[in-house]
Amino acid sequence: MAGIYIHIPFCKQKCYYCDFFSVVGFKEKGNFVKSLLKEIDIQKNYLGNASVDTIYFGGGTPSSLDIEEVKVILDKLYSTFNISSDAEITFEANPEDLEYGYLPDLKELGINRLSIGIQSFNDDDLLFMNRKHSSEQAIKSVERAIKAGFTNISIDLIYGFPNLDLERWKSNLEIALSLPVTHISAYHLTIEERTVFSHYLKKGIITEMDEEDSVEQFSLLIEMAEKSGFIQYETSNFAKDNMISKHNSNYWKQVPYLGLGPSAHSYNGESRQWNVSLVNKYIDGIEANNPEFEKEIIDDNMAYNEYILTSLRTMWGIDLEYVKERFSADKYNFLLSEIENQIELKHLKLTDNKAVLTKKGLFVSDAIMSDLMIIVEE
Ligand SMILES: C[S@@+](CC[C@H](N)C(=O)[O-])C[C@H]1O[C@@H](n2cnc3c(N)ncnc32)[C@H](O)[C@@H]1O
Ligand code: SF4
Repeated sequence: MAGIYIHIPFCKQKCYYCDFFSVVGFKEKGNFVKSLLKEIDIQKNYLGNASVDTIYFGGGTPSSLDIEEVKVILDKLYSTFNISSDAEITFEANPEDLEYGYLPDLKELGINRLSIGIQSFNDDDLLFMNRKHSSEQAIKSVERAIKAGFTNISIDLIYGFPNLDLERWKSNLEIALSLPVTHISAYHLTIEERTVFSHYLKKGIITEMDEEDSVEQFSLLIEMAEKSGFIQYETSNFAKDNMISKHNSNYWKQVPYLGLGPSAHSYNGESRQWNVSLVNKYIDGIEANNPEFEKEIIDDNMAYNEYILTSLRTMWGIDLEYVKERFSADKYNFLLSEIENQIELKHLKLTDNKAVLTKKGLFVSDAIMSDLMIIVEE
């Protein structure tokens, strides 16, 4: 079992909240695709002979690729890796790119999951975030995807941003839940360094939402999504009809993955490596057969902390049997005693030897995480 992530590092414009690696403009797109094909050759042994069950085109903006470019990338992946016949193949797309023509072509190429970055159905919010599309385009993009035959459609929404009131968040959710989508990723805004929002915050142009309002918006999200038949399988991810994202779930289950393209991360159980976050350096490295990346060996403490960090956020929870087998008795015993405390506080419950967040725990998960993690003083 393995996954492949492909990072398409181009955007039409930079959204004010976003710190994902991308450049504005498409000048280098052709050269980038050429290098990407070469990187696939260079990395062909990274996953050994593992069957690839998920492929994920993320970004940046995958929907900035021409259909021919998507085709050559997929052809190359199929001729290089052992890809399962029922692989989940996700494609992130921006609403304004999903015009007639493109969607049926993506479907024809075997893309079977779309993740559309909508963020909000309110035009003022979209303007505030510096999004390129309108609310109408967002709704149309979902309708077109359905018409093109997609049955597994996810949308991204953001809440908890300055000036979003509960009424507007509610109406956003009402529209989202009225659409024929099977998956919603709803993220609370994080103000990241080196974004326009971070600059605005420092200048006092915006202020962060207070905790109480954030909690209220998160509660409303959970309540309305559940009422519409969505299961919250991870803090920010909701799925209907069992359409849980296999690719993201595999990240949380420590399944190996290969990341291709600038800034993409790869993981093989023992180490993690990440490509340089510059398009020109990425291209130059690949063309010189000397890809530029950094690498870290994952020691036991890191592996333990990562497991806690990711599994706690999911509905499957922390598997105590796995921790007992995988980590030292010290770590296991430490975890057991911390979990006992959290059970007393009614933040966690134990089912089938798995520690899962309660409703109460969901709202204080960051604090629980830091109690369960092992911090080693340098
Ligand atoms: C890689 S990004 C964007 C993919 C695609 N280019 C788009 O714009 O729709 C994936 C998602 O992360 C979320 N996101 C990115 N930065 C965020 C932030 N600072 N706070 C909250 N959500 C964020 C957005 O919902 C976004 O759609
Ligand atoms: S949210 Fe998407 S479109 Fe906006 S800057 Fe980030 S990657 Fe680009």
